[in-house]
Amino acid sequence: MAKWVVASAWPYVNNVPHLGNLIGSILSADVFARYLRLRGEDVVFVSGSDEHGTPIEIEAIKRGVHPKELTDQAHEYVSKLFQEYMISFDNYTRTESETHKRFVQGFFMRLYENGYIFDQYDTLPYCPRDKMFLPDRFVVGTCPYCGYPKAHGDQCDNCGRLLHPTELINPRCAICGGPVEFRKTRHWFFDLPKLQGRILEWLKNSSLPANVKNYSLNWVAEGLKPRSVTRDNKWGIPAPFPGAEGKTIYVWFEALLGYISATIEYFEKLGEPDRWKTYWFDQETKTVYFIGKDNIPFHAIIFPAMLMASGEPYTLPWYISATEYLMYEGEQFSKSRRHGIWIDEALELLPADYWRFALIKMRPETKDTNFTWEEFYRIVNSDMNDDIGNYVHRVLKFLYSRFNATVPEPGPATREDEEFMEYYTTAPDRVAKHLESFRLKQALEEVIELARRGNQYLNARAPWEKAKMAPAEAATIMYNAVNSVATLAVLLAPFVPAAADRLWRMLGLEGTVHRAGVWLEAKKPLLKPGHRISRPEPLFSKLPPDFAEKAEAMIAEARRRVMEKRPPLLRWQ
Ligand code: MF3
Ligand code: ZN
Repeated sequence: MAKWVVASAWPYVNNVPHLGNLIGSILSADVFARYLRLRGEDVVFVSGSDEHGTPIEIEAIKRGVHPKELTDQAHEYVSKLFQEYMISFDNYTRTESETHKRFVQGFFMRLYENGYIFDQYDTLPYCPRDKMFLPDRFVVGTCPYCGYPKAHGDQCDNCGRLLHPTELINPRCAICGGPVEFRKTRHWFFDLPKLQGRILEWLKNSSLPANVKNYSLNWVAEGLKPRSVTRDNKWGIPAPFPGAEGKTIYVWFEALLGYISATIEYFEKLGEPDRWKTYWFDQETKTVYFIGKDNIPFHAIIFPAMLMASGEPYTLPWYISATEYLMYEGEQFSKSRRHGIWIDEALELLPADYWRFALIKMRPETKDTNFTWEEFYRIVNSDMNDDIGNYVHRVLKFLYSRFNATVPEPGPATREDEEFMEYYTTAPDRVAKHLESFRLKQALEEVIELARRGNQYLNARAPWEKAKMAPAEAATIMYNAVNSVATLAVLLAPFVPAAADRLWRMLGLEGTVHRAGVWLEAKKPLLKPGHRISRPEPLFSKLPPDFAEKAEAMIAEARRRVMEKRPPLLRWQ
C-alpha cells in the first residue's frame, strides 16, 4: 500500500487565520486526509505554526518582550482553534520545535557541503538605534518620483512605483522613526541556477495540476536566480554556515522543511525515530500539499530544488492543490480594514461543522469566490437542512416509529428500488473520484445529491402509504432508505466529522464512523435486517430568516468577545 504525506501550508502565527486561510490550506487538507484514512490508507497529516520572521521580531521589540513569549501563546491559541475545527493533524508543531531547528541546520549544511550555497556582500538598510538590518518595507521616506512622504522601501503606495530603499529621500526606520544607514553585509545564497535543468525536467514530467505546472514553467523559463537564504534577523534559526554567525535562515526556506521535520517529530514521539524515512525516502509515497496560490513558487520550485540539492532520496511533490482566493462580501479579507471573519469569531456564532460545510461548498477551486451571508444562509438552510437533515430525519423517524426502530428484511424490489440501491451503493465511488481529483467542492455536491435523490425516492415510493396494505414493499423501501442514510454518514465524515459521528450513533452503530476501511464497506448496504437504530434527533439546525441581515452585527459583537481571549500578539489595537 502506498503511503501518503498530507501537508497544509504553515500559517503565520502573527495573525489568527481567517476563513480564507482556513479553506485555502488547513481545512482542505483535513478533508483529504480524513478521506484517505476512511479508505484505510496510510497517512501522516502535518503542519505547524510559522513563527519566525521580521513582523514578529518587530512586535516583540515594540512591546519589549522576547518574541518567543509572544509566539508561545499565539501557537497555543491557534492550535486550540484547529482542534475545535476538528482538524485531524497527526502532528501540528511549530518552527521553534527543537526537532525542526536541528533538522533545518543539518539540511542547510548538506546543501553547503554539496556546493549549492555561496556567499556575497550586499549593501542594505540598517537602523543604528534598533541595531538591526531592516527589510525593504520597513524603510520609509520620500518618494523620488512623486514626492509622497510616506513611501516604503519596496514601493510607493501613492504613485505605485517599485523602489529600492536606497532611492528614498531621507530614509527612516519604520520602527523607531530614526534615520537609516546603509551598511555592507554578507549573505548566503541558494544556487538555484545550478538546478535549472533538473527542475525544468521534473516539472514537465510531474503529476502537478495544470495551474501549478504552467505557472511554475513560466517562472523557470525566465531563468532561475540565486535566492538569499540568510537574514540579519535575531529571531529565527541560526544559519549554520561558517562565517554566518549572528545570521538566521530566511523564514520561507526553513518553514518549507517543516513538512519533513514535523514527520520526523511525529515518529520520534511514537518512539520510532527513523520511521519518517519510510515515507520521505520512498518514491512511491504520495506527498500532497494544500496551499493558497501565492505559495506556488515556493512549493513547486524552491522546495523541490532544495530536496534535489540535498542529494538524499526525498520524494518530490506528487500533487499541489493550490486554491484561488476567498473574498468576503466582494473584497479581499483585510485585517487593517477589519474586513472579513476570523476563525475564532466564527465559532462564537456557530459550531465548526457549519463553517466546514459552507467553506467546502465555497472552496475557490478554479476562481476567486465570494463569501456572502446570503450564500452562507442558503447553504445552511437549504443544502444542510432541507436536503441532508430533512432526509435523515424523515427516514429515521419513520423507521423508529413504524418499524419498531428495526431495519426490515427487504421484500421484492421494483425497478425504482433497484435503481436507488444502485445509486447509493455507487455514491462512494462518485464522491471518491472528485476527492481524488482534488475537487472537494464537487465531492460535497455529490454527497448533497445523494440526500436529494433519497428525498425524491421517498416521495415517489411513499412508504407511509404502503405500510398497511403492502408491508413487503414498504420494507424494501425502508431498507434502502435507511441504508442510504448510513452511506450518507460515511460520505459526510470527511466534511462534517462531528455531525457524521452523531448520525452514526443515531443509526445505532458501534464506535465511530471515523474508522479505516468504512468508505469501502459503504459500497454495499451497511445495515443488516434486524439491526436496531437509536432515537433520531435533528442533525442540523436552521438559521433564523433574518440571519443574513444580522450577521455583520453578530460578528462585530463576537469580535469584541474574542479580542479579550486572544493573547497579546493576536489582539488588534
Ligand atoms: N506562512 C506562509 C504563509 O502563510 C506559508 C508557509 S508554507 C511552508 O503564506 F511551507 F513554508 F510552511
Ligand atoms: Zn529604527
